Amino acid sequence: MYRDPDVYTLEQEKIFQGPVWNYLALEAEIPNVGDFRTIEVGDIPVIVNRARDGKVHAFVNRCAHRGATVQRLIHGNAKSHVCCYHHWGYNLEGNLVGVPFARGVEGKGGLPEDFDKKEHCLRKMRVETLNGVIFGTFAQALEPLEEFLDTTFVNQLKRLFNRPIKILGYQRQRIHGNWKLYTDNLRDPNHGGLLHMFQITFGIARLNQTGGAMVDKKARHNMSWAAQDMGKNNSDAEYSTPRENNNLTLKDGSLLQYRKEFPDAYNLTIASIFPNCIFQQIGNTLAVRQIRTKSVGEFEIFWTFYGYTDDDTSMDQHRLRLSNLVGPGGLVSMEDGEAIEIVHRAIAADEDKHAFVEFGGRGPVGDQDNLVTEAPMRGFWMHYCELMGITPGADAHANA
Ligand code: FES
Ligand SMILES: [Fe+2]
Repeated sequence: MYRDPDVYTLEQEKIFQGPVWNYLALEAEIPNVGDFRTIEVGDIPVIVNRARDGKVHAFVNRCAHRGATVQRLIHGNAKSHVCCYHHWGYNLEGNLVGVPFARGVEGKGGLPEDFDKKEHCLRKMRVETLNGVIFGTFAQALEPLEEFLDTTFVNQLKRLFNRPIKILGYQRQRIHGNWKLYTDNLRDPNHGGLLHMFQITFGIARLNQTGGAMVDKKARHNMSWAAQDMGKNNSDAEYSTPRENNNLTLKDGSLLQYRKEFPDAYNLTIASIFPNCIFQQIGNTLAVRQIRTKSVGEFEIFWTFYGYTDDDTSMDQHRLRLSNLVGPGGLVSMEDGEAIEIVHRAIAADEDKHAFVEFGGRGPVGDQDNLVTEAPMRGFWMHYCELMGITPGADAHANA
Protein backbone atom coordinates (compact mmCIF):
# COMPACT_ATOMS: atom_id res chain seq x y z
CA MET A 1 0.00 0.00 0.00
CA TYR A 2 2.92 2.34 0.61
CA ARG A 3 5.43 1.41 -2.09
CA ASP A 4 3.63 0.07 -5.15
CA PRO A 5 3.65 2.58 -8.06
CA ASP A 6 0.46 0.99 -9.46
CA VAL A 7 -1.38 1.71 -6.22
CA TYR A 8 -0.15 5.29 -6.44
CA THR A 9 -1.44 5.66 -10.00
CA LEU A 10 -4.83 4.25 -9.00
CA GLU A 11 -5.02 6.64 -6.02
CA GLN A 12 -4.77 9.62 -8.36
CA GLU A 13 -7.96 8.45 -10.05
CA LYS A 14 -9.92 6.81 -7.22
CA ILE A 15 -8.97 9.08 -4.33
CA PHE A 16 -7.98 12.55 -5.52
CA GLN A 17 -10.33 12.54 -8.51
CA GLY A 18 -12.80 10.38 -6.65
CA PRO A 19 -15.77 11.22 -4.40
CA VAL A 20 -13.93 13.56 -2.03
CA TRP A 21 -13.80 17.29 -1.36
CA ASN A 22 -10.17 18.37 -1.70
CA TYR A 23 -8.94 21.45 0.11
CA LEU A 24 -7.81 24.07 -2.45
CA ALA A 25 -7.06 27.40 -0.78
CA LEU A 26 -8.41 30.13 1.49
CA GLU A 27 -10.62 32.92 0.18
CA ALA A 28 -8.43 35.41 2.05
CA GLU A 29 -5.64 34.54 -0.40
CA ILE A 30 -7.66 35.63 -3.43
CA PRO A 31 -9.86 38.52 -2.27
CA ASN A 32 -10.03 40.46 -5.58
CA VAL A 33 -11.27 39.63 -9.07
CA GLY A 34 -8.37 38.07 -10.97
CA ASP A 35 -6.47 36.95 -7.89
CA PHE A 36 -5.24 33.41 -8.37
CA ARG A 37 -3.16 30.68 -6.79
CA THR A 38 -1.78 27.62 -8.50
CA ILE A 39 -1.94 24.52 -6.34
CA GLU A 40 -2.06 20.76 -6.73
CA VAL A 41 -4.74 18.19 -6.06
CA GLY A 42 -2.81 14.96 -5.80
CA ASP A 43 -0.60 15.18 -8.90
CA ILE A 44 -3.02 17.42 -10.78
CA PRO A 45 -2.05 21.08 -11.20
CA VAL A 46 -4.97 23.39 -10.49
CA ILE A 47 -5.65 27.12 -10.80
CA VAL A 48 -7.92 28.63 -8.14
CA ASN A 49 -9.07 32.17 -8.86
CA ARG A 50 -11.77 34.72 -8.30
CA ALA A 51 -13.69 35.47 -11.47
CA ARG A 52 -15.67 38.52 -12.57
CA ASP A 53 -18.83 37.06 -11.02
CA GLY A 54 -17.06 37.41 -7.64
CA LYS A 55 -17.08 33.64 -7.19
CA VAL A 56 -14.17 31.26 -6.78
CA HIS A 57 -13.52 28.99 -9.76
CA ALA A 58 -11.02 26.15 -10.02
CA PHE A 59 -9.81 24.29 -13.09
CA VAL A 60 -6.93 22.12 -14.18
CA ASN A 61 -3.77 24.05 -15.04
CA ARG A 62 -3.03 22.07 -18.20
CA CYS A 63 -3.58 23.58 -21.61
CA ALA A 64 -6.35 22.06 -23.71
CA HIS A 65 -4.11 22.38 -26.76
CA ARG A 66 -1.01 20.30 -26.13
CA GLY A 67 -0.95 20.09 -22.37
CA ALA A 68 1.47 22.78 -21.22
CA THR A 69 1.18 24.39 -17.80
CA VAL A 70 -0.91 27.48 -18.47
CA GLN A 71 -0.37 29.64 -15.39
CA ARG A 72 3.22 29.31 -14.24
CA LEU A 73 3.21 31.70 -11.28
CA ILE A 74 2.39 30.48 -7.78
CA HIS A 75 0.07 33.42 -7.20
CA GLY A 76 -0.81 36.77 -8.69
CA ASN A 77 -3.57 38.70 -10.39
CA ALA A 78 -4.53 38.09 -14.01
CA LYS A 79 -7.24 39.20 -16.43
CA SER A 80 -6.93 35.84 -18.15
CA HIS A 81 -4.54 32.90 -18.21
CA VAL A 82 -2.51 32.66 -21.40
CA CYS A 83 -0.45 29.59 -22.23
CA CYS A 84 3.10 30.58 -23.21
CA TYR A 85 3.46 27.80 -25.82
CA HIS A 86 0.96 28.91 -28.53
CA HIS A 87 -0.88 31.64 -26.59
CA TRP A 88 -4.23 29.98 -26.15
CA GLY A 89 -6.04 32.21 -23.67
CA TYR A 90 -8.52 31.19 -20.97
CA ASN A 91 -10.82 33.41 -18.94
CA LEU A 92 -11.18 33.29 -15.17
CA GLU A 93 -13.81 30.57 -15.45
CA GLY A 94 -11.45 28.32 -17.39
CA ASN A 95 -13.17 28.83 -20.76
CA LEU A 96 -11.08 29.09 -23.91
CA VAL A 97 -11.47 32.61 -25.25
CA GLY A 98 -8.54 33.19 -27.59
CA VAL A 99 -6.64 31.13 -30.18
CA PRO A 100 -4.03 32.98 -32.27
CA PHE A 101 -4.11 32.20 -36.01
CA ALA A 102 -7.30 30.16 -35.63
CA ARG A 103 -8.13 31.14 -39.22
CA GLY A 104 -4.56 30.74 -40.41
CA VAL A 105 -2.73 33.38 -42.43
CA GLU A 106 -4.04 34.65 -45.76
CA GLY A 107 -6.47 31.77 -45.98
CA LYS A 108 -3.85 29.12 -45.32
CA GLY A 109 -3.43 26.90 -42.27
CA GLY A 110 -5.34 27.43 -39.06
CA LEU A 111 -7.95 25.30 -37.42
CA PRO A 112 -10.74 23.34 -39.13
CA GLU A 113 -14.01 25.20 -39.74
CA ASP A 114 -15.88 23.20 -37.12
CA PHE A 115 -13.47 24.03 -34.30
CA ASP A 116 -15.56 25.04 -31.28
CA LYS A 117 -13.85 26.88 -28.41
CA LYS A 118 -16.51 25.62 -26.01
CA GLU A 119 -15.19 22.09 -26.43
CA HIS A 120 -11.70 23.07 -25.34
CA CYS A 121 -12.08 24.50 -21.84
CA LEU A 122 -9.76 23.75 -18.98
CA ARG A 123 -11.18 20.88 -16.96
CA LYS A 124 -13.35 22.42 -14.27
CA MET A 125 -13.74 21.44 -10.64
CA ARG A 126 -16.92 21.83 -8.66
CA VAL A 127 -16.17 24.34 -5.89
CA GLU A 128 -17.77 24.97 -2.51
CA THR A 129 -16.60 27.14 0.36
CA LEU A 130 -17.23 27.07 4.09
CA ASN A 131 -16.37 30.17 6.13
CA GLY A 132 -13.80 31.19 3.55
CA VAL A 133 -12.20 27.75 3.16
CA ILE A 134 -12.29 26.59 -0.48
CA PHE A 135 -12.80 22.96 -1.41
CA GLY A 136 -13.07 21.42 -4.86
CA THR A 137 -14.01 18.08 -6.34
CA PHE A 138 -13.83 16.34 -9.70
CA ALA A 139 -16.84 14.20 -8.74
CA GLN A 140 -19.83 16.13 -10.04
CA ALA A 141 -22.36 13.96 -8.19
CA LEU A 142 -20.70 14.08 -4.77
CA GLU A 143 -22.69 15.01 -1.64
CA PRO A 144 -22.52 18.72 -0.65
CA LEU A 145 -19.40 19.83 1.25
CA GLU A 146 -21.06 20.14 4.67
CA GLU A 147 -22.49 16.65 4.43
CA PHE A 148 -19.07 15.31 3.45
CA LEU A 149 -17.39 17.05 6.38
CA ASP A 150 -20.09 16.05 8.89
CA THR A 151 -21.06 18.00 11.99
CA THR A 152 -17.83 17.77 14.01
CA PHE A 153 -15.72 19.07 11.15
CA VAL A 154 -18.18 21.71 9.98
CA ASN A 155 -18.20 23.01 13.55
CA GLN A 156 -14.43 22.89 13.74
CA LEU A 157 -14.04 24.94 10.54
CA LYS A 158 -16.62 27.42 11.77
CA ARG A 159 -14.69 27.62 15.05
CA LEU A 160 -11.29 28.19 13.42
CA PHE A 161 -12.61 30.54 10.73
CA ASN A 162 -15.04 32.40 12.96
CA ARG A 163 -13.97 35.87 11.67
CA PRO A 164 -11.87 37.37 8.85
CA ILE A 165 -8.35 36.02 8.66
CA LYS A 166 -5.02 37.30 7.37
CA ILE A 167 -2.31 35.16 5.84
CA LEU A 168 0.96 35.18 7.81
CA GLY A 169 3.12 33.08 5.50
CA TYR A 170 3.88 29.75 3.91
CA GLN A 171 6.24 26.83 4.37
CA ARG A 172 6.82 23.70 2.36
CA GLN A 173 8.09 20.43 3.73
CA ARG A 174 9.30 17.73 1.34
CA ILE A 175 9.13 14.24 2.86
CA HIS A 176 10.64 11.18 1.22
CA GLY A 177 7.98 8.66 2.05
CA ASN A 178 4.51 7.65 0.95
CA TRP A 179 1.82 10.24 1.59
CA LYS A 180 -0.34 7.79 3.54
CA LEU A 181 2.38 7.46 6.17
CA TYR A 182 1.53 11.08 6.88
CA THR A 183 -2.22 10.55 7.04
CA ASP A 184 -1.43 7.66 9.42
CA ASN A 185 0.76 9.93 11.54
CA LEU A 186 -2.07 12.43 11.86
CA ARG A 187 -4.47 9.77 13.10
CA ASP A 188 -2.07 8.48 15.73
CA PRO A 189 -2.09 10.86 18.72
CA ASN A 190 -0.28 8.13 20.66
CA HIS A 191 3.08 9.21 19.21
CA GLY A 192 2.72 12.86 20.26
CA GLY A 193 4.03 12.36 23.78
CA LEU A 194 6.66 9.79 22.72
CA LEU A 195 8.31 10.82 19.46
CA HIS A 196 8.31 14.56 19.98
CA MET A 197 11.09 15.16 22.51
CA PHE A 198 10.59 18.90 22.59
CA GLN A 199 6.99 18.43 23.65
CA ILE A 200 7.98 15.88 26.26
CA THR A 201 10.91 17.86 27.65
CA PHE A 202 8.89 21.01 28.03
CA GLY A 203 5.70 19.29 29.08
CA ILE A 204 3.55 20.38 26.15
CA ALA A 205 2.28 16.86 25.51
CA ARG A 206 1.66 14.01 27.89
CA LEU A 207 -0.51 11.00 27.55
CA ASN A 208 -2.44 11.67 30.76
CA GLN A 209 -3.69 15.04 29.59
CA THR A 210 -7.32 15.42 28.71
CA GLY A 211 -7.64 14.60 25.06
CA GLY A 212 -9.08 12.32 22.48
CA ALA A 213 -10.04 11.96 18.88
CA MET A 214 -13.26 12.59 17.03
CA VAL A 215 -14.29 11.09 13.73
CA ASP A 216 -17.08 11.68 11.22
CA LYS A 217 -19.85 9.20 10.48
CA LYS A 218 -17.58 7.22 8.16
CA ALA A 219 -14.50 7.65 10.39
CA ARG A 220 -12.56 8.92 7.39
CA HIS A 221 -11.81 12.33 8.93
CA ASN A 222 -10.20 12.67 12.32
CA MET A 223 -9.66 15.39 14.86
CA SER A 224 -7.12 14.76 17.58
CA TRP A 225 -7.59 17.20 20.41
CA ALA A 226 -6.18 18.09 23.79
CA ALA A 227 -7.26 20.59 26.37
CA GLN A 228 -4.78 22.33 28.61
CA ASP A 229 -6.89 23.49 31.48
CA MET A 230 -9.15 20.53 32.02
CA GLY A 231 -8.78 17.38 34.02
CA LYS A 232 -6.25 16.23 36.55
CA ASN A 233 -2.51 16.92 36.68
CA ASN A 234 -2.76 19.69 34.16
CA SER A 235 -2.03 22.88 36.04
CA ASP A 236 -0.45 25.81 34.23
CA ALA A 237 2.64 25.54 36.45
CA GLU A 238 3.20 21.98 35.34
CA TYR A 239 3.09 23.02 31.71
CA SER A 240 5.82 25.61 32.03
CA THR A 241 8.24 23.34 33.93
CA PRO A 242 10.61 21.10 31.99
CA ARG A 243 9.98 17.54 33.06
CA GLU A 244 12.45 15.06 31.72
CA ASN A 245 15.67 16.98 31.64
CA ASN A 246 16.06 19.85 34.02
CA ASN A 247 19.29 20.99 32.38
CA LEU A 248 17.31 22.25 29.45
CA THR A 249 15.62 25.59 29.57
CA LEU A 250 14.20 27.83 26.91
CA LYS A 251 15.71 31.28 26.44
CA ASP A 252 12.33 32.39 25.18
CA GLY A 253 9.64 30.88 27.36
CA SER A 254 6.94 32.50 25.24
CA LEU A 255 7.27 29.50 22.89
CA LEU A 256 5.26 27.55 25.44
CA GLN A 257 2.72 30.24 26.11
CA TYR A 258 -0.87 29.73 25.06
CA ARG A 259 -3.01 32.82 24.84
CA LYS A 260 -6.55 31.58 25.24
CA GLU A 261 -8.50 32.73 22.20
CA PHE A 262 -11.45 30.38 21.85
CA PRO A 263 -14.40 30.10 24.24
CA ASP A 264 -13.61 26.40 24.74
CA ALA A 265 -10.63 24.74 26.43
CA TYR A 266 -9.05 23.09 23.39
CA ASN A 267 -5.47 24.26 22.93
CA LEU A 268 -4.51 21.56 20.44
CA THR A 269 -6.70 20.46 17.59
CA ILE A 270 -5.49 18.65 14.51
CA ALA A 271 -8.39 18.10 12.15
CA SER A 272 -7.47 15.86 9.22
CA ILE A 273 -9.97 15.85 6.40
CA PHE A 274 -9.87 12.88 4.02
CA PRO A 275 -7.81 12.84 1.86
CA ASN A 276 -5.57 15.85 1.55
CA CYS A 277 -5.70 18.45 4.28
CA ILE A 278 -5.22 19.27 7.90
CA PHE A 279 -6.44 22.22 9.94
CA GLN A 280 -4.14 22.71 12.86
CA GLN A 281 -4.35 24.69 16.04
CA ILE A 282 -1.18 24.07 18.03
CA GLY A 283 -1.41 26.60 20.82
CA ASN A 284 -1.78 29.84 18.92
CA THR A 285 -0.29 28.53 15.68
CA LEU A 286 -3.08 28.30 13.16
CA ALA A 287 -2.35 26.72 9.81
CA VAL A 288 -3.75 24.64 7.00
CA ARG A 289 -1.58 21.90 5.59
CA GLN A 290 -2.21 20.49 2.15
CA ILE A 291 -0.70 17.12 1.26
CA ARG A 292 0.67 17.22 -2.30
CA THR A 293 1.72 13.86 -3.68
CA LYS A 294 4.86 13.80 -5.84
CA SER A 295 5.44 10.08 -6.38
CA VAL A 296 4.84 6.83 -4.54
CA GLY A 297 7.79 7.67 -2.30
CA GLU A 298 7.62 11.44 -1.98
CA PHE A 299 5.17 14.14 -1.02
CA GLU A 300 5.11 17.74 0.07
CA ILE A 301 3.26 19.42 2.89
CA PHE A 302 2.23 22.93 1.90
CA TRP A 303 1.60 25.02 5.01
CA THR A 304 -0.49 28.18 5.04
CA PHE A 305 -0.19 30.09 8.31
CA TYR A 306 -2.84 32.58 9.28
CA GLY A 307 -4.16 34.76 12.06
CA TYR A 308 -7.17 37.05 12.37
CA THR A 309 -7.43 40.52 10.86
CA ASP A 310 -8.20 41.91 14.31
CA ASP A 311 -4.98 40.47 15.82
CA ASP A 312 -2.63 43.16 17.09
CA THR A 313 1.09 43.22 16.25
CA SER A 314 2.00 41.38 19.42
CA MET A 315 -0.37 38.54 18.52
CA ASP A 316 1.03 38.42 14.96
CA GLN A 317 4.53 38.10 16.42
CA HIS A 318 3.38 35.48 18.92
CA ARG A 319 1.81 33.35 16.18
CA LEU A 320 4.91 33.66 14.00
CA ARG A 321 7.22 32.78 16.90
CA LEU A 322 5.16 29.67 17.65
CA SER A 323 5.30 28.66 14.01
CA ASN A 324 8.87 27.56 14.82
CA LEU A 325 7.28 24.48 16.38
CA VAL A 326 6.05 23.24 13.02
CA GLY A 327 7.15 23.17 9.37
CA PRO A 328 10.27 21.54 7.90
CA GLY A 329 12.64 22.81 10.60
CA GLY A 330 10.05 22.89 13.34
CA LEU A 331 10.99 22.01 16.90
CA VAL A 332 8.14 19.52 16.96
CA SER A 333 7.02 18.49 13.51
CA MET A 334 10.33 17.74 11.80
CA GLU A 335 10.28 14.44 13.67
CA ASP A 336 7.12 13.40 11.88
CA GLY A 337 8.97 13.72 8.58
CA GLU A 338 11.85 11.65 9.93
CA ALA A 339 9.52 8.97 11.34
CA ILE A 340 7.82 8.67 7.96
CA GLU A 341 11.12 8.40 6.11
CA ILE A 342 12.52 5.68 8.38
CA VAL A 343 9.33 3.66 7.97
CA HIS A 344 9.31 4.09 4.19
CA ARG A 345 12.94 2.96 3.95
CA ALA A 346 12.70 0.05 6.37
CA ILE A 347 9.66 -1.57 4.76
CA ALA A 348 11.23 -1.65 1.27
CA ALA A 349 12.23 -5.31 1.46
CA ASP A 350 9.01 -6.46 3.08
CA GLU A 351 6.26 -5.25 0.81
CA ASP A 352 4.14 -8.31 1.50
CA LYS A 353 4.15 -7.83 5.28
CA HIS A 354 1.71 -5.92 7.46
CA ALA A 355 1.81 -3.13 9.99
CA PHE A 356 0.09 -3.56 13.34
CA VAL A 357 -2.62 -1.06 14.22
CA GLU A 358 -4.49 -2.09 17.35
CA PHE A 359 -3.96 0.71 19.87
CA GLY A 360 -7.47 1.75 20.76
CA GLY A 361 -8.74 -1.79 20.22
CA ARG A 362 -10.30 -3.61 17.29
CA GLY A 363 -13.72 -3.34 15.73
CA PRO A 364 -15.78 -0.37 14.57
CA VAL A 365 -14.15 3.05 14.86
CA GLY A 366 -15.85 5.88 16.76
CA ASP A 367 -14.85 8.88 18.87
CA GLN A 368 -11.96 8.19 21.24
CA ASP A 369 -11.78 9.60 24.77
CA ASN A 370 -8.03 9.25 25.18
CA LEU A 371 -4.82 9.78 23.25
CA VAL A 372 -3.43 6.24 23.50
CA THR A 373 -5.11 5.20 20.30
CA GLU A 374 -4.57 4.72 16.62
CA ALA A 375 -8.15 3.68 15.89
CA PRO A 376 -8.74 6.70 13.57
CA MET A 377 -6.05 5.26 11.28
CA ARG A 378 -8.28 2.26 10.77
CA GLY A 379 -11.14 4.59 9.90
CA PHE A 380 -9.00 6.19 7.18
CA TRP A 381 -8.02 2.82 5.74
CA MET A 382 -11.58 1.50 5.70
CA HIS A 383 -12.70 4.43 3.58
CA TYR A 384 -9.55 4.31 1.46
CA CYS A 385 -10.19 0.63 0.66
CA GLU A 386 -13.79 1.40 -0.19
CA LEU A 387 -12.78 4.06 -2.73
CA MET A 388 -9.93 1.98 -4.13
CA GLY A 389 -12.12 -1.11 -4.49
CA ILE A 390 -9.87 -3.14 -2.21
CA THR A 391 -11.19 -5.85 0.10
CA PRO A 392 -8.97 -5.98 3.17
CA GLY A 393 -7.31 -9.41 3.33
CA ALA A 394 -8.74 -11.89 5.77
CA ASP A 395 -5.27 -13.36 6.25
CA ALA A 396 -3.77 -10.13 7.62
CA HIS A 397 -3.07 -11.64 11.02
CA ALA A 398 -1.54 -14.81 9.62
CA ASN A 399 1.00 -12.82 7.61
CA ALA A 400 1.79 -10.14 10.18
S1 FES B 1 0.08 23.98 -25.44
FE1 FES B 1 -0.93 25.70 -24.69
S2 FES B 1 -1.27 26.88 -26.44
FE2 FES B 1 -0.31 25.12 -27.22
FE1 LIG C 1 3.71 14.19 15.23
